[in-house]
Amino acid sequence: MGREKIKDRIEELRKLIEYHDYLYYVKNSPEISDQEYDELFYELKRLEEEFPEFRSPDSPTQRVGGKPLEEFVVVEHVAPMLSLDSSHKYEDFVRFDERVRRNLGVEKVEYFVEPKLDGLSVEVVYEYGKFVRAATRGDGVRGEDITANVKTIRSVPLKLFNDPPRMLAVRGEVIMPIDGFLKLNEQLLAEGKAPFANPRNAAAGSLRQLDPRITATRPLEIYFYDILRVEGVSFNLHTEERNCLENWGLRLTMPAEIVESAPQVAEFFKRMERVRDDLPYEIDGIVIKVNNLEFREILGYTSRFPRWAYALKFAPREKITTVLDIEWSVGRTGVVTPIAILEPVNIGGVQVSRASLHNLAEVKFKDIAPGDKVRVVRAGDVIPYVVEKVEDSGKELVIPDRCPVCNTTLVEKNPFLICPNKYACKAQLAGAIRHLVSKEAFDIKGLGERTVELLIDRGLIKRVVDLFSLKKKDLLSLPGFGEKSANNLITAISKAKRITLDRFIHALGIPGVGYKISRDIALKCVNVDNFLRVTEEELKQIDGIGELLAKGIVEFINDPYHREIIEDMLEKIEVLPMSYSSGEKLKGVKVVFTGTLSSMTRGEARKLVELEGGEVQSSVTSKTDIVVVGDRPGSKLDKAKAMGIKVLNEKEFLELIGLRY
Ligand code: IVH
Repeated sequence: MGREKIKDRIEELRKLIEYHDYLYYVKNSPEISDQEYDELFYELKRLEEEFPEFRSPDSPTQRVGGKPLEEFVVVEHVAPMLSLDSSHKYEDFVRFDERVRRNLGVEKVEYFVEPKLDGLSVEVVYEYGKFVRAATRGDGVRGEDITANVKTIRSVPLKLFNDPPRMLAVRGEVIMPIDGFLKLNEQLLAEGKAPFANPRNAAAGSLRQLDPRITATRPLEIYFYDILRVEGVSFNLHTEERNCLENWGLRLTMPAEIVESAPQVAEFFKRMERVRDDLPYEIDGIVIKVNNLEFREILGYTSRFPRWAYALKFAPREKITTVLDIEWSVGRTGVVTPIAILEPVNIGGVQVSRASLHNLAEVKFKDIAPGDKVRVVRAGDVIPYVVEKVEDSGKELVIPDRCPVCNTTLVEKNPFLICPNKYACKAQLAGAIRHLVSKEAFDIKGLGERTVELLIDRGLIKRVVDLFSLKKKDLLSLPGFGEKSANNLITAISKAKRITLDRFIHALGIPGVGYKISRDIALKCVNVDNFLRVTEEELKQIDGIGELLAKGIVEFINDPYHREIIEDMLEKIEVLPMSYSSGEKLKGVKVVFTGTLSSMTRGEARKLVELEGGEVQSSVTSKTDIVVVGDRPGSKLDKAKAMGIKVLNEKEFLELIGLRY
């Protein structure tokens, strides 16, 4: 390739990566798989390394750069970053609304409503569409320059699209998703470092790292919600500002709506309270803003906050209570997890009497023992957890040295405490069986926790495979089983003996391998023999499987202990190859996807359709057979409905081709 050609290719790759970032972060609808994205990224990286003369600081490869700082430089904001007037009480908002309408002399006013994200407010400045600076809120007038750190956040575009303004200063919230926060804490504890109390502190701590290489490893994200200053464009409404920001490529707070009265605000508030647990990140209320920008000018500001915006906050979801005891629970992988048994408390409408302490390193670090008073948080859909000790009882925590179930000497494998007795430990065997019969594995109904325990206690199940040799008379000997229920269970077990590879892989319970990854491994390996010979290299080609997981999977299936169990199982059951049921189900069928899919990327969806002999179309035509709709579908759905074309949701689509959601 000539130098000019190389330069062109580098520029093309940068544009492609920026465009796919935009589809992924702003549009929430990726068109290529992670793997295809990585290929573009590595090609660019390679070319830039080979031809350093074409390097550029705003290339997507240059998000992490520069040396650690000595200290943060203080910078003045483009416009003051004010705070918000707020309350937990709806009546306070009603008074705010009355004041707004009185001051404006109007009956009705349009409010823009959106969630209030519980993160850190930052100013991000773009000049001629290029990311140039980011700062913390600080005292509202001056903040700390955290440009290098914010640059590492992939949802912060380094370049804006569509004729960006000369100068734009936007305000957004940097957050850390709850699962990323929990993982980060686990990792910090494993390294003997202090964990963060909540996702907000974790986001703040990550942004205040002097070394941007550390920030780059933290799962931070950004959502924008306000223009601090823009040059060369003017607006009448906040909704117009938002349209423009989105068009320039900035990801905005969602969901957002226009409402026209206080009761409608209350309705939105209640709705957000309900969805709160389903969101991957923390929100702590809603923000209500006057939509009309001229009205905003009339209403003006106090020294601390605008008179045109208000935050209505949710009741906090943390309480202080007493630890009555610490229970040590043995899971199917042998990890012994400390659980705090609590004096029951009501947290946000839910009675909480147990809270997770995650692992040995965490209880040790938090230094929690029975009698202590602790702060407990219930957030998102995660199990309530103990944040910190607030009052010491003087008692010492006793760490067991033997397994509470099988009495084997426990071993410490930082951050975990582990029972090494594998399936000879009843708790681990029971956990394995319960996982084996679960919905996305062998899907055997009628085998509850209690029955599994009884079967093990009575010696009817000694090894995992014994499940497949159970006889009707074994079940009839158990309390609660009659002729009918025993028959049903035996039938369910014998039916389950023919299992597709995806479910079989999931049933093995390999740490870190959930159903989705199992399905992807199965699609790659096709049959069980290939799966048992799979290499790390092959696994790493799958989206979502990195170095560590690939190694873990290969080690698991080649470990002599697991291998014997797998071989024994294969004598009792039949594992159907993935192509056994595939290749035909969508033969000649034309499929269109619209909206965001939650269990796969567009690239993966296409692969599935093609494996089943179908074809993916990019738009709905008279030849389209099926339209599959994800979240926030586009006009394709309307068109499909108007044309009477079959519409399926993601779950129905997966079921159609014999997969699970
Ligand atoms: S608007 C002048 N919108 O909440 C109005 N703020 O408690 C600027 N926050 O400092 C704020 N989500 O950091 C606005 N959707 C949202 C928000 C939001 C979170 C933060 C912001 C502010 C704090 C006030």
